Amino acid sequence: MSSAVVTPLSVPEGSKVNFGATISGVDIEKLTDADFDVIRAALFAHQVIIFKNQAHVSPRAQFELTNRFDPTATSYGHGATLDAKRSVLHPDLKTIPHQPQVQVIGNGFVPEYEGLQNITLRHPHHKTFHATAVPEQDDLNFTRFYRWHIDAALYGLAPPVVTTLQAVRVPRGRRQTVRYDDGTGDELSVPLGTTAFVSGYTMYDLLPAKDQEFARTTRVEYAPHPYIWMSGARSRSDGLGMVSEGKEIPLDQLPAIEDDKIQVLPMCWRNPVDGRLAVQVHPSAVRRLHLADGTVVEDLETVREMVHRVQRPGIAPDCVYAHDWEEGDFVLFHNRGVLHSVVGAFAEDEVRLFRQCNVAASEFPLGPEVATAAAAA
Ligand SMILES: [Fe+2]
Repeated sequence: MSSAVVTPLSVPEGSKVNFGATISGVDIEKLTDADFDVIRAALFAHQVIIFKNQAHVSPRAQFELTNRFDPTATSYGHGATLDAKRSVLHPDLKTIPHQPQVQVIGNGFVPEYEGLQNITLRHPHHKTFHATAVPEQDDLNFTRFYRWHIDAALYGLAPPVVTTLQAVRVPRGRRQTVRYDDGTGDELSVPLGTTAFVSGYTMYDLLPAKDQEFARTTRVEYAPHPYIWMSGARSRSDGLGMVSEGKEIPLDQLPAIEDDKIQVLPMCWRNPVDGRLAVQVHPSAVRRLHLADGTVVEDLETVREMVHRVQRPGIAPDCVYAHDWEEGDFVLFHNRGVLHSVVGAFAEDEVRLFRQCNVAASEFPLGPEVATAAAAA
């Protein structure tokens, strides 16, 4: 018997956030099989699971819980692609030497942590990635979603099933207002340095029937070496994909491309437990769309507009869960059912230290066509 207690998040009146739960009564450092059964069921039902007071949890225990969702998978979700100097991921992550699937992320100078010495972490600021930025004089109070994404290499390695985040040091701060800056007037008040989550299932459910059909039948082709490819380009102001200015790194200037590593994935991924469909697209890495009738949409601007139209309703302010981090929080999320984004900006002397872990999966996500075949069988 597990003493784990699952409590769905309570959300304000009118919120469309229908995911997220807290689990109490477990110690991640000493998980039992019965605890894991509860956690697994909760993960696929609630997508984002919050454990409080887990400051003592070791990198090893973090890896073991993460890995338990896919025991035959062992390499970090991005594999060795982090080492490519041009990748947009490179500056944001430091690898723990004795547990290489666990990365340290955050902000500020840390003299020593888990075998890493004298590291300087940098919380990414939207001005380094977006085509436009919040004006300097507003930067303390206003911010953006940095980049909505799935944690996935999207080239070669299969997208991790789950990601875990451990809050080791959290500067207590002010709140900021996220601006979408896309002409809608949308904005959202969030805690400083929040991680924002949206549900891919809600993203799907909000669409009109014809867009759901489009999402169910379209496949998304990702660029080879996507994080290097996108490094010349800049993001939309809502963090949901790139603007099209022809600034992507040309394919012949990328590292050698192995065609069999290029990924064409369903636009909707099926929940392995309840069969629900989530719109799961990493919008910044999309290069082509393969439509139901066999047409391949090649024009990048058109591709991005089509994807943005499907995804934008799902990141509306009332769909976003913005986690208010406290030291010792351990968050486990279903990387195949939610999108997430870093938010906000810290001063240099605000030290924030987090650990992140995911593992490249042993299998690719299920798409809707598999559900149809299974139902017919
Ligand atoms: Fe991430």
